[in-house]
Amino acid sequence: MPQCLDIAQLGSLVIRTKAQKVSDIQTPEIQALIDDMIFTCSDSRGMGIAAPQVGHSLSILIMASAPNKRYPYAPMMEPTALINPHVISFSDESVKDWEGCLSLPGIRALVPRHTQIEVNYVDRHGQMQHAVFKDFLARLFQHEYDHLIGTVFLDRIESTKDIVMEKEYQRLIREKDERETLL
Ligand code: NI
Repeated sequence: MPQCLDIAQLGSLVIRTKAQKVSDIQTPEIQALIDDMIFTCSDSRGMGIAAPQVGHSLSILIMASAPNKRYPYAPMMEPTALINPHVISFSDESVKDWEGCLSLPGIRALVPRHTQIEVNYVDRHGQMQHAVFKDFLARLFQHEYDHLIGTVFLDRIESTKDIVMEKEYQRLIREKDERETLL
């Protein structure tokens, strides 16, 4: 049975540590960690999570985008583990949009991200995969990938004036009908 893991918060060393590559993907330990990460992500109502956020400094991230009431613009995808992801190229174009993070609860900010990103990764079966992510998925990937290099979304903002607290953010999206992302 998958377990719900504790989520490391900003200030803990693991959040600021560059993750190690995984060489032994097929071991029961790594497979169980992936299952636990998917479970923890879903239990936390996140759309993604990275291994350092659950205390493992390993190059594994989960993307679990799905549209719902809170995230109406998110595309549907099966929760997917990306292991040892590598960025091949990204668009010149960037856009700013709202992000939040399970490791920084209560804070939202406008974060500039490339609108398209091309990546390689190894899937949980050990197969090399190639993907091009656009728009919301590109944002989600970049947010989670940052966790693998010890970076959080606040490091990417253009101005501290782009930070808001959750309560004001909720007011803002009600007023402006903006979309919300919790990554
Ligand atoms: Ni995050």
